[in-house]
Amino acid sequence: YTVEYHDSLGSTNDRARKVAKSGAVDVAVVADEQTGSRGRLKRAWTAPSGGVWCSVVLQPDLPAAHVPLSALASGVATVVACREAGVDAHLKWPNDVLVGDEGERGGQKLAGILTEMEGEADRVSWLIIGIGVNANIDAAELPEGATSLRELTGDIDRRLFVQRLLESLHEQLSNPDTVLDQWREYSSTLGSEVRIETSTGVVEGRAVDVQFPGALVVETDTGEEVVHAGDCEHLR
Ligand code: BTN
Repeated sequence: YTVEYHDSLGSTNDRARKVAKSGAVDVAVVADEQTGSRGRLKRAWTAPSGGVWCSVVLQPDLPAAHVPLSALASGVATVVACREAGVDAHLKWPNDVLVGDEGERGGQKLAGILTEMEGEADRVSWLIIGIGVNANIDAAELPEGATSLRELTGDIDRRLFVQRLLESLHEQLSNPDTVLDQWREYSSTLGSEVRIETSTGVVEGRAVDVQFPGALVVETDTGEEVVHAGDCEHLR
């Protein structure tokens, strides 16, 4: 990947979108701080100076319906990079990177992923994978329930971390057949009681598996439900 570094951007995903629209691919946009950073489900994301804020522009040869697998692959890649940095990170469905198991969110949040795409049903024209890792940041600068590499193991070399993260991402995206198994290995969601808010209601039960292209299988009182998207809470 070609990497562009910026001191400050509104959102690396927005800059990446411009890059994608200009026709460039395999570009990673990295910023030291973001002033208008976005999270999943229209939430804001706190991105002060010192984090790893990175968005990768890809042009995968995929139908749009397969994109969730790339999102899980990005979560796996981020967990691998955080583990290489010495932190025992795990994944909460679909791709929150957490540490520990305290609190209603199933741990403290270390990193998050926001994927955005454009394209037809049968073919993605571009895919942006936005990865945010709370790196060299004091906990006091982060929202409640979040933590950072600084708090857990100490400051890291961010350029080196970005290199490792991109290598790890490339490896996961090049091996789609093993992504679900890798995700199962690193996930703390499987086996947990979960409560998921979807666009059509709430699903509660035990998370038993993840299935292609990235749906969570939940065993509820009334049978198995396959959940494709939503906000997941670990109950215990
Ligand atoms: C989430 O957990 O809600 C996802 C957070 C994603 C944050 C990253 S930081 C880099 C990229 N640019 C953004 O504006 N958001 C993503």
